[in-house]
Amino acid sequence: MEIIRTINELRDCLDLHRREGHSIGLVPTMGALHEGHASLVRRSVAENDVTVVSIFLNPTQFNDPKDLERYPRTLEADCRLLEQCGASIAFAPSVAEVYPEPDTRQFSYPPTDSVMEGAMRPGHFNGVCQVVSKLFSYVEPDRSYFGEKDYQQIAVIRRMVADLGIRSQIVPCPVVRQSDGLALSSRNTLLSDEERVTAANIYRIMKESRSLGLSVQQTHDYVVDGINAIDGLEVQYFSIVDGDTLADVSSWDDAPSVVGCITVFCGTKPIRLIDHIKYK
Ligand code: PAF
Repeated sequence: MEIIRTINELRDCLDLHRREGHSIGLVPTMGALHEGHASLVRRSVAENDVTVVSIFLNPTQFNDPKDLERYPRTLEADCRLLEQCGASIAFAPSVAEVYPEPDTRQFSYPPTDSVMEGAMRPGHFNGVCQVVSKLFSYVEPDRSYFGEKDYQQIAVIRRMVADLGIRSQIVPCPVVRQSDGLALSSRNTLLSDEERVTAANIYRIMKESRSLGLSVQQTHDYVVDGINAIDGLEVQYFSIVDGDTLADVSSWDDAPSVVGCITVFCGTKPIRLIDHIKYK
């Protein structure tokens, strides 16, 4: 696996592959890789001749500097995992390489980017669109792989890709969970062992809510009340939305696909955890 730091070097390398007719898969990441990322990389390796994994902790998508500061940085371990998964290129540029000047572009795809994470973290999806659109322009991937763990992110990126006429196929990949149901996330490393056990209740309660035959409002209350009743967990929001546009629904018949998206504060620091469940 090659580790590439500059855009020019990356482009030169990918041009050679394109001349050979090789297909290119892109897996954008911010590092601190875990089994969830590995599943995206393995899928890309299986479906493309060349897999580029970007490792770039993108400052423009963090609206809280403390969150950026404490984000885990584990480049060496990341590269070892990528080698094992069969990635061809780890692209790990500096901030100055990606942002030689401040990115003033504004992306706006309401309601998809203005609800939930968009409302809680103003500017977050603008930063995601800034960096992902740059990565698309460097790599020009045939396929790009994103974890469904960040359900809203995929919905926003789909809108951006349609808006900008980007040709890459967006491949959503299922959430990878611990055996107790906790969704794998780089942030889990910030939880104590006890907090990890507590956090597993988030998905357990959402899953229960799916089997009870309740209305949308009752389902909402069941999940929020159930999670808030557990010591060390506090729901920030739980929204039951159209799986495509992410607009709120009030009945299960309001949209062809319906998803519950949740954010929960866990523990004393506290760590903000994101998850979702598909109702239909
Ligand atoms: O999901 C992430 O890790 C990031 O938001 C992404 C897509 C790599 C952009 O920085």
